[in-house]
Amino acid sequence: MNPLAPQPSNLFYQGRQRRPMIKEARGIYIFDVEGNRYIDGSSGAMVANIGHGNERVLAAMRAQMEKATFAYRLHFENEPAEELARMTAARMPEGLNRVFFVSGGSEAVESATKLARQYAIAVGEASRWKVISRVPSYHGSTLGALALTGMATMTRPFEPMMREMPKIPAPTCYLDRDDLSDDERGLRYAEMLREEILRQGPETVLAFIMEPVGGASTGALVAPASYYARIGEICRELGILLIYDEVMTGAGRTGRFLAAEHWGETPDIIALSKGFAAGYAPLGAMVAHERLVEPVLANGGFVHGFTYAGNPLACAAGVAVLREIDDQGLCANAEAMGDHLAAELRGLRARYPFIGDVRGKGLLLAFELVSDAETMEPLPTELDAHVHLVEEAYSRGLIIYSRRTRGGTSGDHFMVCPPLIVTREQVGEIIDKLTASLDAFADRFDLPRGNR
Ligand SMILES: Cc1ncc(COP(=O)(O)O)c(C=O)c1O
Repeated sequence: MNPLAPQPSNLFYQGRQRRPMIKEARGIYIFDVEGNRYIDGSSGAMVANIGHGNERVLAAMRAQMEKATFAYRLHFENEPAEELARMTAARMPEGLNRVFFVSGGSEAVESATKLARQYAIAVGEASRWKVISRVPSYHGSTLGALALTGMATMTRPFEPMMREMPKIPAPTCYLDRDDLSDDERGLRYAEMLREEILRQGPETVLAFIMEPVGGASTGALVAPASYYARIGEICRELGILLIYDEVMTGAGRTGRFLAAEHWGETPDIIALSKGFAAGYAPLGAMVAHERLVEPVLANGGFVHGFTYAGNPLACAAGVAVLREIDDQGLCANAEAMGDHLAAELRGLRARYPFIGDVRGKGLLLAFELVSDAETMEPLPTELDAHVHLVEEAYSRGLIIYSRRTRGGTSGDHFMVCPPLIVTREQVGEIIDKLTASLDAFADRFDLPRGNR
């Protein structure tokens, strides 16, 4: 197959690497029509949290399919949506008990910011409309969510079409070379939010949105604990709503159902998707504190919605996925296997000096390649390491997920985020394939190797 041959039925393949045709997927493995087996070492795009082909989820979906696959939410309520709302609210911090279903992460983020805005209007604070976010960050590709995204390569073509939103630096403490402690660094980055709010005028600022553990834009960036607490204080003090984008971190990925639980933080709104239905259906949710929703409803209702919101088939998948997360103890497994995988990745760092950093939480893990681990100088941009190492792994039957680290323009990080069902033996299989891929990559670009 010519790897760059266009596929007539799909314009968007043009100029892109063609990929094998999938035949089936089971557990952490995907098989193509040629009979090759791949380890889904990134759960797709950090989605397939409970693994592929789960029979109980498929049975629940089949059963719902026999009843109704669609019911328009303004005409009917449906039991799967009601049940999923109850189950979701039960997993949230106190007060976050209002759930609005959507079909994906971008829609969840759009819904969060629009609810925040309608709340401000309902309580007489209509001057508030700015949503501050971080650079780098990723919050989705619809124009509203994209305006919050801090990744120049994704946003630049659309800038004239978007309302510019204020940005502050993400807490990339691992790059800082100063004498501060981790906690001091966390506070320093949190203060940047306060300064930005004051610069903008607090009466104009509606919300701050952040990924509690970074996703593909930063490569699983975790801030010092002091950051989370101080961000919460600043928002409360200045009347700014705090939105946690847990599209990637939610539903157990970091070892807790919500990443927020690691720091005991209660944001005002949470966006969920990806692992929430784990790839069995397009599904997401915006979960808001009742304190925000009541005034909006009293003021005429939420002026927002999507045709597929609360779709019964998608919600039936969501119910079954949440049951699997509980029944199989997947949060605990994500924590245990995450610790093990992180230790293995740190082991690789000793062997390959061009691995500059290993970071993340639970099974949301990444490593970053550099040309100098002391200064964290990235590899030369034109090396395109983020492409080549992924291809080395792919050719060995291991799928990992890479992006440019530094604002999308330079640096290379690689997400190693298998489904939360992964076993110790399978982690070993991932590390073996990754080691062979790193060897080939080092040979090809003549990169140094440490002791074995
Ligand atoms: C943190 C975060 N927010 C939002 C999104 C957008 O989700 P979707 O692609 O489902 O619209 C993503 C997707 O990668 C994400 O990682």
